[in-house]
Amino acid sequence: ELLPEGAGPSVGMPVVPLFSQLGREPFAAVLEAMEVRTHPAKQSVVVEGEPGASMFALVEGTLEVVRHFQDGTRRKVGELAEGAFFGELALISEGPRLASVVAAVPVVLLEFTRAKLAELVRRHPVVGQVVQAFYRERMVENLLR
Ligand code: CMP
Repeated sequence: ELLPEGAGPSVGMPVVPLFSQLGREPFAAVLEAMEVRTHPAKQSVVVEGEPGASMFALVEGTLEVVRHFQDGTRRKVGELAEGAFFGELALISEGPRLASVVAAVPVVLLEFTRAKLAELVRRHPVVGQVVQAFYRERMVENLLR
């Protein structure tokens, strides 16, 4: 019901390449746990400093990651392309969002609330492993930059 008309596994695969590794049942559970959201260009999806209780996957469009620095400037620290996850840091730490994530163009996202994600990972631990693998990769990328 949450997916657009005609959506099926073929939607999920280009969307979040990592999920394409999942078997049919965990993949179906992922589809069930998520909600589709759209944002117009320039709108913030998450705002630095605010509490956050969900994470997202980018289906369509491009997002900019922007944050404040100690010297008082606010700068772009990265871009998120289709298939990227974000918003996990506040979700996991239960602290504030560490950056703002802003739509560079109109975007389509999938949102997973903490409750839905916890339930999903409890039932299908492989989903948690997939998400963790993604973050490890980004952490390594950040270290190498
Ligand atoms: P969160 O802190 O919940 O909200 C902002 C999100 O931006 C953050 O989770 C990460 O998912 C994402 N992000 C990507 N790159 C960075 C970065 N360099 N610093 C902080 N957050 C980043």
